[in-house]
Amino acid sequence: MTYAAQMFFFSWQGHVHVLVPFSSAPIWSACSINRLPHLSSELGTLPLLDTAITIMAIELAPFPVPASADSVKLADFGREVRGINVAEFTPEQFKEIEEALYKHGALLFRNTKLSPAQQYALTKAFDPQSESYGHGNNKTGETKKSILHPDLKTIPSVPQVQLIGNGVVYNHEGLAEAKLKHPNHTTFHKTRVSPEDEDKGVTRFYRWHIDAALYDLNPPKVTTLYGITVPQGEKQICRYDDGTGDELEVPLGTTAFVSGKVMFDILPPELKSFAVRSKVKYAAHPYVWMAPAHAMPTGLGIETEGLELPLEELPAWEESKLKILPILWKNPVTGDLHFQVHPCGVQELIVSPLPEGANREGALYPDGGHIKDLKEVRGLLYKMQRPGIAPSLIYPHDWKEDDLVIFHNRGVLHTVVGAFKPDQVRAFHQCNLAASDEPAGPSAEDVKKWA
Ligand SMILES: [Fe+2]
Repeated sequence: MTYAAQMFFFSWQGHVHVLVPFSSAPIWSACSINRLPHLSSELGTLPLLDTAITIMAIELAPFPVPASADSVKLADFGREVRGINVAEFTPEQFKEIEEALYKHGALLFRNTKLSPAQQYALTKAFDPQSESYGHGNNKTGETKKSILHPDLKTIPSVPQVQLIGNGVVYNHEGLAEAKLKHPNHTTFHKTRVSPEDEDKGVTRFYRWHIDAALYDLNPPKVTTLYGITVPQGEKQICRYDDGTGDELEVPLGTTAFVSGKVMFDILPPELKSFAVRSKVKYAAHPYVWMAPAHAMPTGLGIETEGLELPLEELPAWEESKLKILPILWKNPVTGDLHFQVHPCGVQELIVSPLPEGANREGALYPDGGHIKDLKEVRGLLYKMQRPGIAPSLIYPHDWKEDDLVIFHNRGVLHTVVGAFKPDQVRAFHQCNLAASDEPAGPSAEDVKKWA
């Protein structure tokens, strides 16, 4: 029997589509014949169309980037996924979603209905060996000193999923009453926007980060963020307050994303060389360690004031559980290098010498080094990361109810932004799982190319 004999053609959204049986299984999938270049060899050549056709089960649309964004640099960043119920996906659809995520850094699904168990299943599909919640609150959260403690409430039936948001939420997934607080810069930054300016809608990035415990556990591969109750309100102005005059208009309560790939790509050669040769060493229990300290006005790291908790005052820790991770993480699908550092938790930098034959002119630490001075460590990281959070490189997501965003936690940095009033109730479910492996760093060829 030929495939042509089993097909059903129809027209939708101006494209001709065809329903085809998937291999011999009784599953029907839709694909568009306008997308022939993307089609695989699953079905072979169709005599009827004189060209190749295969399954194209999901549709990807560019992200709605704001006018402030550099459309060239963000061209590959983010895709809205259409034509799939993400609560129930086939293995074939999951493969497409996974590949799209690693290519684009973040995926948006609108009008989603997802139970905590379904969100956990979706998150786990990206790393089937992973199990425990990846932000480390189950460990360091036991001590109330952790800065993550007030931001997370565990869903009782699915403890890998956290309830986050703002205001009081009642009778929610087994939680009779949950008091939620949208974290904002006034409790974390060294300086703050004046109350008068806050009333006018001025705000700041809270804390640029990767979702990760950064101690003992491996950084999660993905995070899923599901907006269930989303208060709407006036846009806010996010001010950098670092002397540059930079600012960005953002939707109320946005989650702001930047690409770690772009953060690396825009660096000058000497900083690329430094980044490709360097690793960061995170502090023990970094969220407890940093708790008494204050952040920079951009939310991109900590001011060096000597306020970090002394090692002897931290919960028990072991040298073998400290995390030493490369600055650049290699994308498993594209092979690109992403600048993935959570600047607040870093204590030391470990630099390898230049490889043989590399140009030493202008090179930083050409013979390698181990930098332990916190001010210098933070200064170098800030110099490398600050260009990557320029207003034009930010995608601020404008949350709508039932939005699900999946982001590649090993390929992007993100931050909470803005401030809600107590009566603006917001409820999100967040899930990420400590990964079954450490992120891969640059290959020998990468070092040779960039060092
Ligand atoms: Fe996060």
